[in-house]
Amino acid sequence: MVKVKILPDKENASEEVAQMMHDLIVEKPNAVIGVATGSTPELAYDLLAEKIKENNTDVSQLQFFALDEYIALPWDHPESYHAVINRTVTVPLGVDPSQVHVPEAPDDATEGPVRYYDEQIEAAGGIDLQLLGIGRNGHIGFNEPGTPFESPTHVGRLTEMTRQDNSRFFDSVDEVPPLAVTQGIGTILKSRKAILMAFGEAKADAIRDSLAEPPAEERPGSGLQLHSDCVFYLDEAAAAKVDCEPLKVD
Ligand code: F6R
Repeated sequence: MVKVKILPDKENASEEVAQMMHDLIVEKPNAVIGVATGSTPELAYDLLAEKIKENNTDVSQLQFFALDEYIALPWDHPESYHAVINRTVTVPLGVDPSQVHVPEAPDDATEGPVRYYDEQIEAAGGIDLQLLGIGRNGHIGFNEPGTPFESPTHVGRLTEMTRQDNSRFFDSVDEVPPLAVTQGIGTILKSRKAILMAFGEAKADAIRDSLAEPPAEERPGSGLQLHSDCVFYLDEAAAAKVDCEPLKVD
């Protein structure tokens, strides 16, 4: 089931998410946290880094698992998710790189399941808190429309819309890799808690479609309705088309 929390803006929503993450880390110093890349969670990571610094919080036992990684992009490319997670999570939070896992994405990987990553997550005890963003077409991770809800971590193909949207991080759309390793929707559904953040009017259709019933694989975000504990943190623009008052939480 998905609960929806609507906040005035991205700053307020990111502050709440950062506080929730910090509370979890204090309560469970060996928590396992799933981290998304993209623009959406960056402020929450910055605010969490400030809280860790202010409180001298112990982060030495945490483990992080990134959602996805492009195939055929070297790790030292600034837009590889190895590099992005290092820049936005590992360094600012002050954790050792050995605590941070990003899917390996060999150049010759072909479409299909990549099970070792799910096994690594299970061996770590499973994900306590999974952070998610959402694409304009409703993708979560790189699970594009049509991905089975039970999918494990796998190699998937990006849609042209996703490549266009992510081209803002590259010099041109041709540089955006067409394939990526991504936690599957099945992997994401195993997390004990999931938080999806979405900000801005460009995400309003994807949010409406994710909450539309019944869940359908053409709308990947709607798979989160099958999660036992999932909250969407939205600003007013992303929530503009939400039409499900009973699900809202204060
Ligand atoms: C990132 C990811 C994607 C993004 C989504 C939104 O690891 O898996 O699903 O969360 O593409 O991206 P932004 O936040 O840049 O709008």
